[in-house]
Amino acid sequence: MAMESPTIHLLLYTVATAVMVVAELQRFEHAVKADGSLKFLVVGDWGRRGLYNQSNVAYQMGNVGDKMDVDFIVSAGDNFYDNGLVDEDDLAFYDSFTNIYTAPSLQKQWYSVLGNHDYRGNVLAQLSPTLRQRDHKWLCMRSFILHAGNMELLFVDTTPFQDKYFTETDHEYDWRGVLPQQEYISNLLKDVDVALKESSSKWKIVVGHHTIFSAGHHGNTQELVDKLLPILLDNKVNLYINGHDHCLQHIGSSNSQLQFLTSGGGSKAWRGDINQWNLDEMKFFYDGQGFMGVEITEDEVDVFFYDIFGNILHKWSGSDYTHSVL
Ligand SMILES: *[C@@H]1O[C@H](CO)[C@@H](O)[C@H](O)[C@H]1NC(C)=O
Repeated sequence: MAMESPTIHLLLYTVATAVMVVAELQRFEHAVKADGSLKFLVVGDWGRRGLYNQSNVAYQMGNVGDKMDVDFIVSAGDNFYDNGLVDEDDLAFYDSFTNIYTAPSLQKQWYSVLGNHDYRGNVLAQLSPTLRQRDHKWLCMRSFILHAGNMELLFVDTTPFQDKYFTETDHEYDWRGVLPQQEYISNLLKDVDVALKESSSKWKIVVGHHTIFSAGHHGNTQELVDKLLPILLDNKVNLYINGHDHCLQHIGSSNSQLQFLTSGGGSKAWRGDINQWNLDEMKFFYDGQGFMGVEITEDEVDVFFYDIFGNILHKWSGSDYTHSVL
């Protein structure tokens, strides 16, 4: 048969480009240190007006952040308990954030996702630029990309994946901008896949509030195991970082380089709430409060878990050779 018509070809190309531009996730750039390295802390499940050791975790984050000379902070969601923020003027923003993380080393950019408790309040308030003006270190978005040096950090809004929140009668969720659920999820998954495929960064890290795998109270999130995990594996993501379970946890993989890291110890912890797990995969589990530190260099990523005394409870290093370069 004859060759394809160039006109149709051009038309298809234009349509495809337009769709991709619309679907693109917002991108941020963060400068790296002079030697190309990058350091950050991760805290999840924290906003309780300093209670449940939140202030002690914050104090040690300040110390460790100073020693490490961190570049930024990642919040894995559940930023404000119990029900997110009421509005932009909610004093919980100061009581649980601004007046808690006061150490000089923590006055860096925070990059936050939303957790399920944040969805129980006014989501648009947490996302509002007004809060960013009131405290310049605050930045919370649903899903976005942070590029820094040889690392791509992809933040994914995981709450809308979990079906049970849509049928729960005990709590109300703020689904503005999320419905219809299936369309939101499938667009998001497409965006995540495209962003990872387009990324030429050596280290690919995905952050979401919910667990994929966890031996903690909530356990695995089946919807993410089914829908998000295959994309992470397909794109050779190195780390999946989450909160949701109020513990510190590291689960490894036997058949890929992907490591599952839970940093949900920002305030209230769930002592003794642990399920059995394959010991070959379970590298570390701590049922108290704490946070995580990550250091990235040209050919290594180091992960540290800290308790509220600043002790290193667990360390893991992934080297270049565990990561297959395309
Ligand atoms: C605060 O942390 C200490 C040390 O881990 C622990 O013994 C204590 O129970 C914690 N307090 C709360 C309220 O969780």
